[in-house]
Amino acid sequence: MAGGAAAIGAASAGAAHAAGEDVILQKQDWRTTLGDGVGERPYGFPSEHEKHVVRRSVEWLTADPISSVSFTPLHELDGIITPNGVCFERHHGGIAEIDPTAHRLMIHGLVDTPLVFTLEDIKRFPRENRVHFLECAANSGMEWRGAQLNGVQFTHGMIHNVMYTGVKLRHVLEEAGIKPNGKWLLAEGGDASAMTRSIPMEKALDDCMIAFKMNGEALRPEQGYPLRLVVPGWEGNMWIKWLRRIEVGDQPWQQREETSKYTDLMPDGRARRFTWQMDVKSVITSPSPQVPITHGKGRTVITGLAWSGAGKISRVDVSIDGGRNWQPARIDGPSFSRSVHRFYLDIDWNGEPLYLQSRAMDEAGNLQPTKDALRAVRGVNSIYHNNGIQTWYVAKDGVTENVEVS
Ligand code: MTE
Ligand code: CO
Repeated sequence: MAGGAAAIGAASAGAAHAAGEDVILQKQDWRTTLGDGVGERPYGFPSEHEKHVVRRSVEWLTADPISSVSFTPLHELDGIITPNGVCFERHHGGIAEIDPTAHRLMIHGLVDTPLVFTLEDIKRFPRENRVHFLECAANSGMEWRGAQLNGVQFTHGMIHNVMYTGVKLRHVLEEAGIKPNGKWLLAEGGDASAMTRSIPMEKALDDCMIAFKMNGEALRPEQGYPLRLVVPGWEGNMWIKWLRRIEVGDQPWQQREETSKYTDLMPDGRARRFTWQMDVKSVITSPSPQVPITHGKGRTVITGLAWSGAGKISRVDVSIDGGRNWQPARIDGPSFSRSVHRFYLDIDWNGEPLYLQSRAMDEAGNLQPTKDALRAVRGVNSIYHNNGIQTWYVAKDGVTENVEVS
């Protein structure tokens, strides 16, 4: 195997320190003084030693922070659930701070009875809980022409994965009664951008939800409190936050967000529209540029995330030599359709440079392409829907960089 790391066995050097290391003998403050009592922290926060685990933005990316994006710190997370406080945010008109008692959801257009719902009305429909990823179509959009941003937070952090509690959009639509020629929906947000997207009726009736909770608690204002549309497997832009209006129509509306934006400019200069579903994709989250290998050679955990808008992930392969040889990674934790999957490859690192890559396959048989294979079809005019294979170069000293090997 090139690259020189062998699969790890039960016994491996370098994972523990020899006895006699003195920290274990120290009497630290926290062992000798009493701590805060219960109730001191009515809403808990992470340890102060985890202060660096935050959303971050890239200043030069957008003209101002009102219409901008912050990125999920994927390199510091594990498992499949994104904690609410670090879910990436993408706003086009800032965060709407909505008083739930003054919020309504209207359904009108090609329906038998136009209706206006309060939050309480929505919560009286049968509820369901589902774990789904939300990926912005622009995730990895900076990487089309080559490696650019040095951190998985910035190259892949426009994704989060939470458990939504909500009601089927179908129930709410059926309450209003869809007319036979009602084939499309227009969903509109209650923020200052009044974000609007057309959604085909088949999808709306299939698995869309109106969510009011994420990971068990109310949606955060950043994520659309008090109501957001959940459009499983489809590009984040369609997941309208602060949802206030649904219009039923017989054709798409051709709004700004589905014509000038969120279309894929092809090599011949034509724009491909309505590429809703997110493609099969994966990335190694650690090691990565923000979390290099600091422990030296020996037992090493390589981990990452894989996801697909087409369903579950069936397989992830990892290469340590830039895609020449591949070995199957171990998928661990719950496997839900249109949710991220966590994978691991445990190696015994020999200290030689690594070119780390991961490649996912979904249950529909879609395989994540190399960046060259993707560019052969899409060219380099694109911003959106970049699911190419990412490479991290790990130097002998463990320092890790964004590079491209295609
Ligand atoms: N909905 C409204 N009302 N306003 C917005 O600006 N941004 C969209 C979508 N829904 C947006 C919106 C985009 S482009 C994305 S990627 C997702 O919300 C981001 O969701 P998040 O902020 O929970 O990450
Ligand atoms: Co987006």
